[in-house]
Amino acid sequence: MNAAIIGAGLIGRSWANVFARAGWNVRVWDPEPRQRSAAARLVEESLHELAVHGLVTEPAAAARRVSVVESLQEAVAEAEYVQECGPEVLEVKRSTFEELDAAAPAGTILASSTSAIVASKFTGHLAGRARCIVAHPVNPPHLVSVVELCGAPWTSEDTKRRAREILEAVGQVPIAVKREIDGFILNRLQVALLTEAFRLVQEGYVSPEDLDHTVSDGLGLRWAFMGPFETIELNAPGGIPDYCRRYTPWFRRYMTDLPPASVWDDAQWQRAADAWGRTPSPGKIAAKSVWRDRRLAALVAHKRAQEPSDSD
Ligand SMILES: NC(=O)c1ccc[n+]([C@@H]2O[C@H](COP(=O)([O-])OP(=O)(O)OC[C@H]3O[C@@H](n4cnc5c(N)ncnc54)[C@H](O)[C@@H]3O)[C@@H](O)[C@H]2O)c1
Repeated sequence: MNAAIIGAGLIGRSWANVFARAGWNVRVWDPEPRQRSAAARLVEESLHELAVHGLVTEPAAAARRVSVVESLQEAVAEAEYVQECGPEVLEVKRSTFEELDAAAPAGTILASSTSAIVASKFTGHLAGRARCIVAHPVNPPHLVSVVELCGAPWTSEDTKRRAREILEAVGQVPIAVKREIDGFILNRLQVALLTEAFRLVQEGYVSPEDLDHTVSDGLGLRWAFMGPFETIELNAPGGIPDYCRRYTPWFRRYMTDLPPASVWDDAQWQRAADAWGRTPSPGKIAAKSVWRDRRLAALVAHKRAQEPSDSD
């Protein structure tokens, strides 16, 4: 099986890892020569890092399945699946998808990694628009497996089904966004949490460090293996209906006091950033991202070693 990765930045390289470790041949292209020349080495390093955690058995063989090519056309020529990972700019997505639709064999799925631009904004003018879909990953997709699949109104059911099958086959966890919505699902959840977090810090209820502990040593521990619905099901003996009956009076009160959008005004977010108190250099951020990826790899290895719940 052949995949094409268009754009070899952070996300494109991580997708190359996902397909290569699953046994696919991967052709990677990026318009920037510097990105092209670094891509193969960086993907190989990430495969070896996974091997340390037992998440890839033959990293060198997987790395050999990745080739970096000189044109978009060459990248997609034999691909069954294309994952676009270019800049988050509408005009660039439009023109890239035009090129992809012209160059890719009929039947090839054209998926975009876009974080926030729905497919109907950049695929409607294409003859092959039925094969276009958003497959929004989470950074880095080779360690965080969920992928939000969201079609435009004209995306075919066959494209949605095949995209899901392919992503499952390479070890990702696709979820279906049933119709287009700004921010898809994950970022809407993230923004809801972040907006409240910024408000609580801005208004002096908590320090940013303690707020982070609330997630890393609180909510996030359960969320690493169960979502909010499954979580609340276990928080009342009678499951979700019992939970809702007990807590909704309080939740309703709280809903009348939600943070306003002005939490994101420059002067407001700056207050939270000041409270955080540090802006690490890009080098430090890169180093800490390596640390994060190691922790994630260990967590993924732990999750894989666990038995699924047998109580359902
Ligand atoms: N970084 C994240 O956390 C994250 C998470 C999920 C989705 N995404 C999405 O993935 C996509 C890529 O993001 P990234 O973080 O890898 O960005 P990035 O800046 O690291 O990489 C973008 C790459 O695209 C290349 N590029 C420039 N013009 C191009 C073109 N016309 N065609 C193809 N490639 C081109 C650049 O040279 C660069 O290598 C974006 O749409 C982004 O919204 C990012």
